[in-house]
Amino acid sequence: MKKLRIALIGTGGIAHVHFAGYAVKENIEIAGLTDTSTANLKAAADKYPQAVADADWRAMLDKVRPDLVSVCTPNKFHAEFTLGALAVGAHVACEKPMAMNVEEAQAMEDARAKAGKYGLINFSYRNCASFRFARELIAQGELGPIQRVNVVYLQSFLGAEQTLYSWRNDATLAGFGALGDLGVHMIDAARFITGLAIERVVGVAQTLVPKKKDAMGNWQTITTDTNSSFLCQFTGGTLGTFETTQTAPGYGNYFRIEISGELGTIAVLSEQDQVIWMHQGRVLSRYGTWAANGLAPMPIPTGFVRAQSSNTPGCIVDVIRGTLQDYPSFADGLAAQRVVDSIFHSTKTGSWVEIKG
Ligand SMILES: NC(=O)c1ccc[n+]([C@@H]2O[C@H](COP(=O)([O-])OP(=O)(O)OC[C@H]3O[C@@H](n4cnc5c(N)ncnc54)[C@H](O)[C@@H]3O)[C@@H](O)[C@H]2O)c1
Repeated sequence: MKKLRIALIGTGGIAHVHFAGYAVKENIEIAGLTDTSTANLKAAADKYPQAVADADWRAMLDKVRPDLVSVCTPNKFHAEFTLGALAVGAHVACEKPMAMNVEEAQAMEDARAKAGKYGLINFSYRNCASFRFARELIAQGELGPIQRVNVVYLQSFLGAEQTLYSWRNDATLAGFGALGDLGVHMIDAARFITGLAIERVVGVAQTLVPKKKDAMGNWQTITTDTNSSFLCQFTGGTLGTFETTQTAPGYGNYFRIEISGELGTIAVLSEQDQVIWMHQGRVLSRYGTWAANGLAPMPIPTGFVRAQSSNTPGCIVDVIRGTLQDYPSFADGLAAQRVVDSIFHSTKTGSWVEIKG
């Protein structure tokens, strides 16, 4: 088995998920590291002393010529670094959202196809056992034709006084707030689990926290959305309702998807990813109304849980080695980007937007 030499661009929070995903694969080497933060680069270099660590990303790529590059920086740089990595002949595992806008995402996918390399977008929830199991049940027809999709993704961190202003709150670096950060996971998961494409969207967005202090104690204005709600219509007419926020007290990382078909309803929750909630059958109670016995929790079969790693970025190693075909590709990233861009546009005009492409 050929050794895969891997470089990471950006060594902050999410890079550690990429490191962990690669660490369990055979015959890989962390060969290159780059970051504009001296402290983060040093911390990573201390863990991987064999790697070339260089604050200049182009110099690092030129020296290392890696087989695979992880792009783990703020969203503004995803396109530039992905194109740079493809240009030196590497496959790419890029963070979500894929890019700042659909034009950048399209350029990334075009360059990937031209280079004949693999590209993965880290839609991390795709490897949650419950999300995969829900997809399997729907594909097997257990719910019948899909009639409704409801998705909520609620966090609280931005509302807390202790949270500092960061690149996530700056539209020039992040592109979007909750809509791009969390909404893109919601869109990808809804497409992934139902197998349905999204045809049109309408949405609203708000910034409920106007300012935050930065690490120096200076007040900074938040230029991204902190809350967004949107509707979408899937192929065939099914409606989807979506709500996301970074400011709802009491919620850590609450990502719940509920789907009803003619024959039943299922729900999955990110925080309990080995359970699925389900109701099957259209049952009348003895009073002639629909039985209201709710959704019963059901553990996911152990064999199913074990069948695939829960770490999404590490999957690209198996994709490159030809042992895995089912992964979130650049095409999926581009599809989600089209939807996010269209919702963003709709939040400015108040109108429905048809998804093109
Ligand atoms: N898939 C997921 O569920 C998930 C979760 C968290 C973050 N993310 C994504 O990961 C990306 C990074 O987020 P994070 O939480 O790790 O942020 P972070 O701030 O913790 O880390 C980003 C790192 O990139 C470095 N950096 C910034 N600009 C750079 C540049 N021009 N060149 C090189 N390095 C640079 C920073 O110094 C920092 O070390 C974002 O796109 C974010 O949306 C995805």
